[in-house]
Amino acid sequence: MWDVDGNEYVDFINALAAVSLGYDDPDVTAAVTAQLSKGILYSLSHELEALVAEQIVAMVPSAEMVRFGKNGSDATAGAIRVARAFTGRDLVLVGGYHGWQDWYIGATTRNKGVPAATSALTRRFPVNNAEALEAVLSENRDKVAAIILEPAGAELPSVEYLRRVRELATAHGAVLVFDEMITGFRFANGGAQEFFDVTPDLTTLGKGLANGYPLSAVCGRRDIMMEMEEVFFSFTMGGETLSLAAALATLRKLAREPVIATMRSRGGRIMQGLRDLVAKYGASDFIRVSGDPTWSFVLLADGSTATSFELKTLLLQELFARGILSLGTHNMSYAHTEGDVDRLLAAYDEILPMLKDAANNGALRQLLHCDPLVPLFKVR
Ligand SMILES: Cc1ncc(COP(=O)(O)O)c(C=O)c1O
Repeated sequence: MWDVDGNEYVDFINALAAVSLGYDDPDVTAAVTAQLSKGILYSLSHELEALVAEQIVAMVPSAEMVRFGKNGSDATAGAIRVARAFTGRDLVLVGGYHGWQDWYIGATTRNKGVPAATSALTRRFPVNNAEALEAVLSENRDKVAAIILEPAGAELPSVEYLRRVRELATAHGAVLVFDEMITGFRFANGGAQEFFDVTPDLTTLGKGLANGYPLSAVCGRRDIMMEMEEVFFSFTMGGETLSLAAALATLRKLAREPVIATMRSRGGRIMQGLRDLVAKYGASDFIRVSGDPTWSFVLLADGSTATSFELKTLLLQELFARGILSLGTHNMSYAHTEGDVDRLLAAYDEILPMLKDAANNGALRQLLHCDPLVPLFKVR
């Protein structure tokens, strides 16, 4: 990645984890270029839609039928509408970040403009806490249409927790939706549901589906997906073929090459390397590494002389200065090399002593060249 001033960065954001193979992946670019000369959008669905759907069904355990959208929010909104149609219930329980639309964002602190009546139909539950979910379900017996959660985030869930969520959804007649926007085609070819071996009723996919081209999907159990015959889920650009061609090339590459294994191994080196550095500098009181090797997190806590947000600002400032683009996570792509990992770890080796000075020795003011970040919106 190069900025407008020509500074070069190794990118660990990767379009908020959408670019999983790397920029200008040769297979994806060739597929898109070939499609470009034939046309982009037609009035009828293109064969590619069926081919990508078949590939998703072959890869994702819960997928028996598939519908496509453009943004992740299309897929999550579609899944919720289908779940409501299937159950005849209105209430939705949410466990993570699921997009910008009213049904979800109304239940967060960023709910400006959302009618209270809409917000009242969505409740948050704390993830990785089966008892808390059970309590919400018991308080709302026979009212819950769907439980939607990201199967994994900054904190990896236990398999037992996900199994219990599965059991609770079934016992309460609620549709279980795994929002695998990030974990899909990242934790495993079949997503977190394959990795943890827990199968939801519906799955929403997007980011890793087409290597950055705008495409999302809702898929799942045939009897539930059949509601799509009557549920309205329609987009003028929904059948756009460049993204479908990109998706087919991406999924075939995932099936053919050790994409996930490579991301796992390089991401694992980052996690271990950073943990070793935290131990080396005695920084474990304010810095912790968590998550999955393909999507790991640097979690900061308040030090005695700087807040976690001040420390995060310093961390990002110093990463950018060393040619690393990160927002505090490592969103791995197949294009990251061992050399990129070395460069990142070398940057952390220089930055950790600075963070320690800021956290505990009052050096923040002299180290920080900008205003500290302010907390806006925390969803995971
Ligand atoms: C888990 C999850 N669900 C849904 C979304 C919404 O996707 P989009 O921004 O493409 O609408 C995101 C986006 O970050 C996400 O991470």
